[in-house]
Amino acid sequence: MENLKDRIKQDGQVLPGNVLKVNSFLNHQIDSDLMYEIGQEFAKRFDNEKITRILTVESSGIAPALMVGLALHVPVVFARKQKSAILNGEVYSAKVYSYTKQVENIVGIDKKFLQADDQVLIIDDFMANGEAVKGLVEIANQAQAKVVGVGIVIEKAFQNGGQALRQAGLRVESLAQIASFTDNQVHFLGEE
Ligand code: G4P
Ligand code: NA
Ligand code: NA
Repeated sequence: MENLKDRIKQDGQVLPGNVLKVNSFLNHQIDSDLMYEIGQEFAKRFDNEKITRILTVESSGIAPALMVGLALHVPVVFARKQKSAILNGEVYSAKVYSYTKQVENIVGIDKKFLQADDQVLIIDDFMANGEAVKGLVEIANQAQAKVVGVGIVIEKAFQNGGQALRQAGLRVESLAQIASFTDNQVHFLGEE
């Protein structure tokens, strides 16, 4: 998605530890028009999949996920983060280690909002090691729902999350794939 890549080049700041700060349009202030286009693009890519629910993790995944839900006319469920497992029988849950924040969270979804006949599309803002996505796949598996694909706004392709998920047979679509942050500049896959 060219306008997304242009925006990343224009506004993205490369921070130490291979973190890309995109607070002006994605992670703090949200560019609604760009987010709307992101939703339309994912909806187009997953058009023939008969998706019944979108799954994401709070908080930054919600904006793109909601735009996809709007385009496909399906509900969006965001997994909630908890510091420790408050496990009652009502919640599907998985452990997710956050690389940028260096904390482990338990993410959970109420069993009411995920069914065995669901065709799930997972959406997230970033993918690095794929921990968040793996947690959501685990939750979908607990519900015996089918994950038909994963849509990522910005994939840090130099980390191994995307590769591992694709090798496991999942369809992963990323709108911008970052190859490296060489010289504090963003370089996309296929552009060197
Ligand atoms: P992973 O899920 O692919 O393993 O990624 P990782 O643990 O590295 O990511 C943890 C969090 O940081 C996620 O948000 C993810 O979206 C975000 N993230 C990862 N890499 C980057 C990056 O380079 N730039 C930015 N801006 N975010 C990144 P979160 O901390 O779980 O929560 P929230 O911010 O959505 O509340
Ligand atoms: Na996120
Ligand atoms: Na985030």
